[in-house]
Amino acid sequence: FALHAPYIEAINRLKKERDAVILAHNYMTPDIYHGVADFVGDSLQLAIEATKVKQQVIVQCGVHFMAETSKILNPEKTVLIPDTGAGCSLAESITAEGIEEMRARYPGAPVVSYVNTTAEVKAASDICCTSSNALSIVESMESDTVIMTPDQYLAQNVAAQSTKNVVYWPGSCIVHELYTADDMKSYRESDPGMKIIAHPECPPDVVAEADFTGSTSGIIGWVRDNKPKKAMLVTECSMASNISDSLPEVEFAKPCNMCPYMKKITLEKVLWSLHTMSPEVHVDPQVAEKARLSVQKMIDLSA
Ligand code: 13P
Ligand code: SF4
Repeated sequence: FALHAPYIEAINRLKKERDAVILAHNYMTPDIYHGVADFVGDSLQLAIEATKVKQQVIVQCGVHFMAETSKILNPEKTVLIPDTGAGCSLAESITAEGIEEMRARYPGAPVVSYVNTTAEVKAASDICCTSSNALSIVESMESDTVIMTPDQYLAQNVAAQSTKNVVYWPGSCIVHELYTADDMKSYRESDPGMKIIAHPECPPDVVAEADFTGSTSGIIGWVRDNKPKKAMLVTECSMASNISDSLPEVEFAKPCNMCPYMKKITLEKVLWSLHTMSPEVHVDPQVAEKARLSVQKMIDLSA
């Protein structure tokens, strides 16, 4: 951290000068998470927090769809993302045409799109969901058949607990699809006391091996509440790094997988972004208006 101190100080100074707030996802590295973020959370918490921002500038430390969601909810504010290359394999897996394709295949079925999508996809959907509210959003739909896009595994994990006929798009997260049930079984055999905590973007047979499944903040909350002797967080690597210092009694087992998109956001780029007030996130106002309906409906149902 000492190495990063000059950057952290400069960012925190510039943040005030620019009337900026830093909203950071739980997958950010510890220097960003602990050093400069004003708010940290999962996708739903970040979207809700974006509706409460008083500052004129939002610096999104996360991936592009998160910055777009902040812009959709704050069309009059300046939203910056320190690296526009911070994408997401799920968001890249579907376009608005894909949504229309699903509607044609399942006429009358509502479309629940994961927030890990572009503004155009959100605009073409009926409502959004995140990993923490997916089941309740799907259950709240009136139709018996519900289309979920674009994460096939989140959809299958929801379907396993839902009364609805959930049909889905074949997208996946490049971080979570790498985990296998066989790996989970062998970790458990080698260390029977270890708790396995998985994100619902993992394949269903991995989730079946887990002691707890939840959103990134759900995972953090579970570990804080239960303080297992040893835990394996079946998700992105920064999760354990961000909470291990405050939980010295918990041993965090490897392996973990890194999200190359999230890791594009660095302290240096945050500073540069605040310095140059770029790159700015723009969403076509007409698209933003429709996308806002899908995001706002989700927020209202999650209150
Ligand atoms: P959460 O909403 O659980 O934070 O998930 C976001 C994400 O991108 C996980 O891969
Ligand atoms: Fe997208 Fe997966 Fe990275 Fe999350 S971890 S941003 S879902 S690629």
